[in-house]
Amino acid sequence: MFTETGVDVKKAAEFLRNNELVAIPTETVYGLAGNALSETAVAKIYAAKNRPAFNPLILHISGIEQIERYAMADAHSMQIAKTLMPGPITLLLPKKDTVPDITTAGSGKVAIRVPDHPLTLELLKELDFPLAAPSANPSGYISPTTAAHVQEGLNGKIAYILDGGSAQIGLESTICEVSGNQILLHRAGGVSAATLTAITGLEVILPETKQTHAPHTPGQLKSHYAPNTPLFRGNIEQLINNYPGKKIGVISFSKSYADRPLVSSYVLSASGNLAEAANKLFATLRAVDAQAFDVILTEVFPEEGIGSAINDRLDRAQFLHK
Ligand code: TXA
Ligand code: MG
Repeated sequence: MFTETGVDVKKAAEFLRNNELVAIPTETVYGLAGNALSETAVAKIYAAKNRPAFNPLILHISGIEQIERYAMADAHSMQIAKTLMPGPITLLLPKKDTVPDITTAGSGKVAIRVPDHPLTLELLKELDFPLAAPSANPSGYISPTTAAHVQEGLNGKIAYILDGGSAQIGLESTICEVSGNQILLHRAGGVSAATLTAITGLEVILPETKQTHAPHTPGQLKSHYAPNTPLFRGNIEQLINNYPGKKIGVISFSKSYADRPLVSSYVLSASGNLAEAANKLFATLRAVDAQAFDVILTEVFPEEGIGSAINDRLDRAQFLHK
């Protein structure tokens, strides 16, 4: 299949109506979209990504008034939706029968979000169905934040890439679920736990995040976001000493390590801005992974705001190589 890249929303819509796959820009990362109500289209998504059939997909809708078509939303969830959507937040809700089982991988819950990108919102309004869209990368690799990243991973496997430029946030959405008088934070992202508490007054807790083969909560596949080069986290000064004579790529928050022999230093935000660091993280991981380094070293970021999401992604990135 020839994969075309462009900015033609009408063309993207036509492909999607014909059960073809289209990569869509969002403010978080690019998504690999298909008609969420079509078993044929959804099966193609799993196949194109080589995604395990037990890993459910997020439903993307054009506005919060559509939530009730696909899910049962409690008052607190609607409060979150009204305040934060469109935006980098995904709500996990009991699903209605309108959503095929294949889209939620058999789960009785559906994850729903309204992406905040003008091209994709225009596309969603053009369509009379929601879009199922995981991140537009082969399963297990780093999520794409540009159309070129999508092309690297999925060229020839999808019909069209809707090019909406570089993703504004650069990390996947926060996934949360209101459960009684608490909020379960299934995945850290652009919206912090503190923001969710400020909106609802509810306490935010982490669900059991034990690694299993069939995840019952989102984002539990540890082998996500992983570069091919071994990646280790910790105190960079100390870690460097563990690899004498090796070619090292260092990804740090604000301090440069360029003066160290055999070290190539990549600083995510010289001014120490976490949003800037998050925005550059995935593109930098890809660029560093493409160099022939023996090892990638990185550090633990401040555990505040989107720093928690950066730490979560880097934790998963190192898992395979422990
Ligand atoms: O920012 C984002 O959320 C991006 C953009 C494209 O919207 N999407 C994204 O999708 O990150 P994906 O598939 O790469 O990650 C979605 C996560 C997965 O860990 C999946 O297991 C979980 O959400 N998830 C989706 N539906 C679920 C459900 N019904 N129950 C439990 N977990 C679910
Ligand atoms: Mg993903």
